[in-house]
Amino acid sequence: MKIDPKSFEGFNRVLTGVVVPRPIAFVSTRSKSGVANLAPFSFYNAISYDPPMIVVSAARKADWKEKDTLTNIEDTGEFVVNVVVDDIAEAMNTTAAEFPTDVDEFEIAGLTQAPSDIVAAPRVAESPVNMECRLDQVVTIGSGDKEHGLIIGEIVLMHVRDDIISGHRINHDVLKPVGRLAGNMYCYTHDSYQMVRPVYKP
Ligand SMILES: Cc1cc2nc3c(=O)[nH]c(=O)nc-3n(C[C@H](O)[C@H](O)[C@H](O)COP(=O)(O)O)c2cc1C
Repeated sequence: MKIDPKSFEGFNRVLTGVVVPRPIAFVSTRSKSGVANLAPFSFYNAISYDPPMIVVSAARKADWKEKDTLTNIEDTGEFVVNVVVDDIAEAMNTTAAEFPTDVDEFEIAGLTQAPSDIVAAPRVAESPVNMECRLDQVVTIGSGDKEHGLIIGEIVLMHVRDDIISGHRINHDVLKPVGRLAGNMYCYTHDSYQMVRPVYKP
Protein backbone atom coordinates (compact mmCIF):
# COMPACT_ATOMS: atom_id res chain seq x y z
CA MET A 1 0.00 0.00 0.00
CA LYS A 2 1.22 3.48 -0.84
CA ILE A 3 -0.17 6.41 1.09
CA ASP A 4 -0.33 9.98 -0.14
CA PRO A 5 -0.62 12.14 3.01
CA LYS A 6 -2.57 14.78 1.08
CA SER A 7 -5.43 12.48 0.05
CA PHE A 8 -5.47 9.74 2.73
CA GLU A 9 -8.11 10.66 5.30
CA GLY A 10 -6.88 10.29 8.86
CA PHE A 11 -3.21 10.26 7.83
CA ASN A 12 -2.37 11.62 11.29
CA ARG A 13 -3.30 8.24 12.80
CA VAL A 14 -1.01 6.40 10.38
CA LEU A 15 1.87 8.77 11.05
CA THR A 16 1.58 8.53 14.84
CA GLY A 17 1.20 4.77 14.44
CA VAL A 18 4.52 4.33 12.71
CA VAL A 19 6.68 6.92 14.50
CA VAL A 20 6.74 4.90 17.72
CA PRO A 21 7.35 4.77 20.57
CA ARG A 22 7.50 8.51 21.25
CA PRO A 23 8.71 10.07 24.49
CA ILE A 24 6.26 12.40 26.23
CA ALA A 25 7.22 15.90 27.32
CA PHE A 26 5.04 16.84 30.27
CA VAL A 27 5.40 20.59 29.88
CA SER A 28 4.80 22.97 32.77
CA THR A 29 4.57 26.71 32.22
CA ARG A 30 3.33 29.79 34.03
CA SER A 31 1.15 32.36 32.30
CA LYS A 32 1.86 36.10 32.30
CA SER A 33 -0.80 36.44 34.99
CA GLY A 34 0.77 33.68 37.12
CA VAL A 35 -1.49 30.66 36.43
CA ALA A 36 0.41 27.34 36.34
CA ASN A 37 -0.26 25.13 33.30
CA LEU A 38 0.57 21.52 32.55
CA ALA A 39 0.06 19.45 29.37
CA PRO A 40 1.62 16.45 27.56
CA PHE A 41 3.26 16.59 24.12
CA SER A 42 4.60 13.55 22.29
CA PHE A 43 5.91 15.38 19.23
CA TYR A 44 9.03 15.82 21.32
CA ASN A 45 12.70 14.95 21.34
CA ALA A 46 16.23 15.95 22.33
CA ILE A 47 18.01 17.42 19.30
CA SER A 48 21.56 18.30 20.41
CA TYR A 49 23.93 17.78 23.35
CA ASP A 50 25.91 20.98 23.04
CA PRO A 51 24.12 23.27 23.20
CA PRO A 52 21.65 21.02 25.05
CA MET A 53 18.45 21.55 23.09
CA ILE A 54 15.04 19.92 22.96
CA VAL A 55 12.10 20.38 20.61
CA VAL A 56 8.34 20.17 21.25
CA SER A 57 5.70 20.67 18.57
CA ALA A 58 2.39 22.18 19.67
CA ALA A 59 -0.61 22.79 17.47
CA ARG A 60 -1.40 26.48 17.87
CA LYS A 61 -5.09 25.76 18.49
CA ALA A 62 -7.18 22.96 19.88
CA ASP A 63 -10.85 22.79 18.80
CA TRP A 64 -11.93 26.07 20.33
CA LYS A 65 -8.95 27.66 22.03
CA GLU A 66 -5.27 28.50 21.71
CA LYS A 67 -3.03 25.98 23.43
CA ASP A 68 -1.92 27.57 26.70
CA THR A 69 1.49 25.89 26.63
CA LEU A 70 2.50 27.60 23.39
CA THR A 71 1.04 30.97 24.45
CA ASN A 72 2.78 30.87 27.84
CA ILE A 73 6.14 29.88 26.35
CA GLU A 74 5.91 32.68 23.77
CA ASP A 75 4.89 35.17 26.47
CA THR A 76 7.49 34.22 29.10
CA GLY A 77 10.28 32.46 27.17
CA GLU A 78 10.43 29.72 29.85
CA PHE A 79 9.14 26.22 30.52
CA VAL A 80 9.94 22.92 32.22
CA VAL A 81 9.88 19.47 30.58
CA ASN A 82 9.00 16.78 33.14
CA VAL A 83 9.57 13.12 32.25
CA VAL A 84 6.39 10.99 32.30
CA VAL A 85 6.87 7.74 34.26
CA ASP A 86 4.48 4.87 35.03
CA ASP A 87 3.39 6.34 38.39
CA ILE A 88 2.12 9.60 36.86
CA ALA A 89 0.84 8.32 33.49
CA GLU A 90 -2.83 8.65 34.46
CA ALA A 91 -2.29 12.09 35.97
CA MET A 92 -0.55 13.12 32.73
CA ASN A 93 -3.56 11.95 30.72
CA THR A 94 -5.93 13.94 32.96
CA THR A 95 -4.18 17.18 32.03
CA ALA A 96 -4.65 16.62 28.28
CA ALA A 97 -8.28 17.79 28.17
CA GLU A 98 -8.72 21.28 26.74
CA PHE A 99 -9.20 23.11 30.05
CA PRO A 100 -9.85 26.87 30.01
CA THR A 101 -6.79 29.10 30.36
CA ASP A 102 -7.46 30.04 33.99
CA VAL A 103 -7.48 26.38 35.13
CA ASP A 104 -4.35 25.05 36.87
CA GLU A 105 -3.89 21.46 35.66
CA PHE A 106 -1.61 20.64 38.61
CA GLU A 107 -4.74 20.86 40.79
CA ILE A 108 -6.89 18.91 38.32
CA ALA A 109 -4.35 16.07 38.21
CA GLY A 110 -3.48 16.13 41.93
CA LEU A 111 0.17 16.85 41.17
CA THR A 112 2.47 19.04 43.25
CA GLN A 113 4.24 22.19 42.08
CA ALA A 114 7.92 22.33 43.04
CA PRO A 115 9.76 25.61 42.54
CA SER A 116 12.32 25.76 39.74
CA ASP A 117 15.78 27.24 40.39
CA ILE A 118 16.12 29.38 37.26
CA VAL A 119 12.77 29.68 35.46
CA ALA A 120 9.43 30.88 36.83
CA ALA A 121 7.54 27.81 35.56
CA PRO A 122 7.04 25.20 38.32
CA ARG A 123 8.34 21.63 38.17
CA VAL A 124 6.22 18.51 38.68
CA ALA A 125 7.44 17.20 42.05
CA GLU A 126 6.21 13.64 41.28
CA SER A 127 8.34 13.42 38.11
CA PRO A 128 11.89 12.11 38.74
CA VAL A 129 13.42 14.28 35.99
CA ASN A 130 12.68 17.93 35.32
CA MET A 131 14.43 20.04 32.70
CA GLU A 132 14.29 23.79 33.17
CA CYS A 133 14.32 25.34 29.69
CA ARG A 134 14.65 28.74 28.08
CA LEU A 135 13.01 29.35 24.73
CA ASP A 136 15.47 29.59 21.84
CA GLN A 137 12.90 30.07 19.07
CA VAL A 138 9.45 29.08 17.87
CA VAL A 139 9.41 27.94 14.24
CA THR A 140 6.00 28.17 12.61
CA ILE A 141 4.82 25.10 10.68
CA GLY A 142 1.61 25.13 8.62
CA SER A 143 -0.92 27.94 8.66
CA GLY A 144 -4.49 28.82 9.64
CA ASP A 145 -6.19 26.03 11.60
CA LYS A 146 -3.19 23.79 10.87
CA GLU A 147 -0.56 26.09 12.34
CA HIS A 148 1.94 24.52 14.75
CA GLY A 149 4.69 26.08 16.81
CA LEU A 150 7.92 24.10 16.88
CA ILE A 151 9.27 25.10 20.28
CA ILE A 152 13.06 24.86 20.42
CA GLY A 153 14.39 25.26 23.94
CA GLU A 154 17.74 25.12 25.70
CA ILE A 155 18.03 23.10 28.92
CA VAL A 156 19.48 25.46 31.52
CA LEU A 157 19.19 23.09 34.48
CA MET A 158 18.27 19.41 34.84
CA HIS A 159 16.95 17.93 38.09
CA VAL A 160 17.46 14.15 38.37
CA ARG A 161 16.27 12.12 41.37
CA ASP A 162 19.33 10.61 43.06
CA ASP A 163 18.16 6.98 42.93
CA ILE A 164 17.93 6.87 39.14
CA ILE A 165 21.42 8.17 38.30
CA SER A 166 24.81 6.64 38.97
CA GLY A 167 27.69 8.57 37.41
CA HIS A 168 26.39 9.32 33.92
CA ARG A 169 24.14 6.30 33.84
CA ILE A 170 20.37 6.49 34.15
CA ASN A 171 18.77 3.32 35.52
CA HIS A 172 15.69 2.82 33.31
CA ASP A 173 14.37 0.01 35.51
CA VAL A 174 13.95 2.59 38.26
CA LEU A 175 12.99 5.53 36.02
CA LYS A 176 10.20 3.61 34.18
CA PRO A 177 9.55 6.14 31.40
CA VAL A 178 6.29 5.85 29.43
CA GLY A 179 6.28 5.56 25.64
CA ARG A 180 3.43 6.76 23.46
CA LEU A 181 2.10 4.71 20.57
CA ALA A 182 -0.89 5.84 18.45
CA GLY A 183 -4.11 7.29 19.87
CA ASN A 184 -4.80 5.99 23.39
CA MET A 185 -2.05 3.35 23.29
CA TYR A 186 1.09 3.54 25.44
CA CYS A 187 3.95 1.18 26.19
CA TYR A 188 6.21 0.24 29.08
CA THR A 189 9.95 0.40 28.60
CA HIS A 190 11.08 -2.37 30.95
CA ASP A 191 11.74 -4.98 28.22
CA SER A 192 15.04 -3.59 26.94
CA TYR A 193 18.14 -5.21 25.45
CA GLN A 194 21.68 -4.25 24.53
CA MET A 195 23.27 -4.00 21.07
CA VAL A 196 26.89 -2.90 20.85
CA ARG A 197 27.60 -0.26 18.21
CA PRO A 198 30.33 -1.29 15.75
CA VAL A 199 33.49 0.76 15.30
CA TYR A 200 34.76 1.30 11.75
CA LYS A 201 38.38 0.21 11.42
CA PRO A 202 39.92 1.22 8.09
C1 LIG B 1 0.12 11.64 25.38
C2 LIG B 1 -0.33 12.90 24.69
C3 LIG B 1 0.52 13.51 23.79
C4 LIG B 1 0.14 14.72 23.16
N1 LIG B 1 0.99 15.28 22.25
C5 LIG B 1 0.67 16.45 21.67
C6 LIG B 1 1.58 17.07 20.76
O1 LIG B 1 2.68 16.58 20.49
N2 LIG B 1 1.21 18.25 20.20
C7 LIG B 1 0.01 18.86 20.51
O2 LIG B 1 -0.27 19.95 19.99
N3 LIG B 1 -0.87 18.29 21.36
C8 LIG B 1 -0.57 17.12 21.96
N4 LIG B 1 -1.43 16.53 22.85
C9 LIG B 1 -2.67 17.25 23.22
C10 LIG B 1 -2.41 18.32 24.30
O3 LIG B 1 -1.86 17.72 25.46
C11 LIG B 1 -3.75 19.00 24.64
O4 LIG B 1 -4.19 19.73 23.51
C12 LIG B 1 -3.66 19.89 25.86
O5 LIG B 1 -4.97 20.22 26.29
C13 LIG B 1 -2.95 21.20 25.60
O6 LIG B 1 -3.00 21.92 26.81
P1 LIG B 1 -2.71 23.46 26.95
O7 LIG B 1 -3.81 24.23 26.25
O8 LIG B 1 -2.71 23.65 28.43
O9 LIG B 1 -1.36 23.72 26.32
C14 LIG B 1 -1.12 15.31 23.45
C15 LIG B 1 -1.99 14.66 24.34
C16 LIG B 1 -1.61 13.46 24.94
C17 LIG B 1 -2.55 12.76 25.90
